[in-house]
Amino acid sequence: PVLVVDFGAQYAQLIARRVREAGVYSEIVPSGTPLPQLLARDPAAIILSGGPSSVYADGAPQIDQRLFDAGPPVFGICYGFQAMTTALGGRVDRTGRREYGSTTLTRTSGDAGAESVLLQDVPPTAQVWMSHGDSVAQAPDGFTVTAATADTPIAAYENLQRRLAGVQYHPEVIHSQHGQDVLRRFLFDIAGLQPDWTPGEILAEQVAAIRAQIGDAKVLCGLSGGVDSAVAAALVHRAVGDQLTCVFVDHGLLRQGEREQVERDYVAATGIKLVTVDASERFLGALAGVSDPETKRKIIGREFIRVFEQAAADISEAEGGIRYLVQGTLYPDVVESGGGSGTATIKSHHNVGGLPEDMTFELVEPLRTLFKDEVRALGRTLGLPEAMVARHPFPGPGLGIRIIGDVTAERLETLRAADAIVREEMTAAGVDGMIWQCPVVLLADVRSVGVQGDGRSYGHPIVLRPVSSEDAMTADWTRLPDELLARISHRITGEVDEVNRVVLDITSKPPGTIEWE
Ligand code: XMP
Repeated sequence: PVLVVDFGAQYAQLIARRVREAGVYSEIVPSGTPLPQLLARDPAAIILSGGPSSVYADGAPQIDQRLFDAGPPVFGICYGFQAMTTALGGRVDRTGRREYGSTTLTRTSGDAGAESVLLQDVPPTAQVWMSHGDSVAQAPDGFTVTAATADTPIAAYENLQRRLAGVQYHPEVIHSQHGQDVLRRFLFDIAGLQPDWTPGEILAEQVAAIRAQIGDAKVLCGLSGGVDSAVAAALVHRAVGDQLTCVFVDHGLLRQGEREQVERDYVAATGIKLVTVDASERFLGALAGVSDPETKRKIIGREFIRVFEQAAADISEAEGGIRYLVQGTLYPDVVESGGGSGTATIKSHHNVGGLPEDMTFELVEPLRTLFKDEVRALGRTLGLPEAMVARHPFPGPGLGIRIIGDVTAERLETLRAADAIVREEMTAAGVDGMIWQCPVVLLADVRSVGVQGDGRSYGHPIVLRPVSSEDAMTADWTRLPDELLARISHRITGEVDEVNRVVLDITSKPPGTIEWE
C-alpha cells in the first residue's frame, strides 16, 4: 500500500481517499509508527501529511531521517514537507506570517532550468490552498525548487533520483487547482506505481477473503435500507450465497417507497434471502406521546435492538444456527476508533442499526478497508439499483426525529407525502449530486394561518433543510435554484393536507446540526 503518515490534522483521510481515487491502494498510519514497522508493511510509497504543529514546537512529531534512504518514494505535504526538509538538512524558518486559504502558486523554472515532473500539469500560476505558519527557507541539497507563492519562496521541490518530493500547500483539497494531477504525478511518474485499485479488484479480493473467513457457516445481516449494509450484504452473498440471510426491520419510520426498494428492487438485483419484520405498530406504540428528541432516539434504539434480537434468534433456529453477523463498518470508523488495518478494534455504533455488544456472533466486516465512494463503486459493480447506491444519508431513527413534536401515524403520513415530493422534484431537477442530503421536517406543534382554496387554513409548516457537506461534521445550506424551491412549495401546499407553509432552513452547521433533533 501507499502509507499516509498522519500528523494529526484532518488531512490524512482525505489524502488516502485521493490516492485511492487515483487507483492506488492506500492506508493511514499514526505518526509515531517506528520506521521498521513502517517498512515491514512494504510500502509502495509514503506520504507525509499536513498537521497542526510547528516543526520547532516541543513534542512536534518528527520523522526518522533514515526513512529517506530506506527505499520507498516519499511525498511531503505541508507539515510533512517541512518535517522532511529539516530531516534532510534543509532549513525551516518561523516567518511570523500565517498564510491561510487560497493563494497564488507560481511555478519557477528550477535551478537548472529543468521542467518539474511533479507540477507538469499545473499552469504557470494556479490557485492553491495553504495553511501554515513556518516556511521552508532552504531546500535540502540535491533538491530542485519548482514553485513559490508571495509569502513562501519555496513552495514545492523534488529530487527525482531519490524519488522524493514535497509541496507546502494542500493538493488533496478541492480548492487547490490541479491538486489531483500533482498527486498522480507523484504516484505514477516519481514513485512509478500503476493504477490497479479498481472496484473489480476490490470485489475479487473481498469475495476471497469472506469465503476464507466464513467457510460453510451461516451468516446474518441486518439491512437498513442504506448503502453500507446493502453493499456489505451483496458482497457476502456473492461470496457464500444462501448461507446468508438478511433481515430488514421496518420500524414504520421509513420514507415512502423505502421498504419496497429493499424488498423488491434489492432482492431482484441480488437474489438475497430476506426476512422483513414489520414492527411499525410496536414502534408507534412505544413512541406515543413522546416529544423529547433524546427520549425518542433512546426508545427507537431500544426497540430496534429488541426486535432485531428476536428476529436473529428466530432465523438462527430456522437455519440451524448462525455463527457470523455482517456489519457495514467503513474505513473512517476504523481509523477514528484507533484501529489500523489488521487490528481488532471495533467501534460500537450506538445508532439504530447498531447492535448490542453482547450478541454472540462473530463479525464479518467486508467494508472495513473502504471509503464511502469506494463502497458506492462496489455497489455498482455488484449491480445494485442506482437509487440505493447513490442514496443520501438517512438517519437510523428515520422520520421519528423529523417530526418536531410527538410521532403519530397521521403525522408520519403527512411528512412522508411532503418528503416524497421533495425527493421527486430534486431528482427531476438534477440537483441530487449537488447536495449531501436534504432532511424534510414537519413542525407538528406549530400552526399558522393561511388561505387555501376558498378559505382560511390553520396548518403546519414543512421545513426544507438542503445541505452541502464533505463529511457531515460541518455543512452549509445549499443554494437550490429558486424555480425548484417554488415548485416544491407549490406542490407540497397543494397536495399535502395539513401543510400550508414551506420554509427553508438557511443555517450552516455549526451552529445548527443537519437534523432538527
Ligand atoms: P447531525 O444532525 O448531527 O447529523 O448534524 C449528522 C449526520 O448524521 C446523520 N444522523 C444519524 N445517522 N443514526 C444515523 O444512522 C442517527 O441516529 C443519526 N442522527 C443523525 C444525519 O442524517 C447526518 O447525515
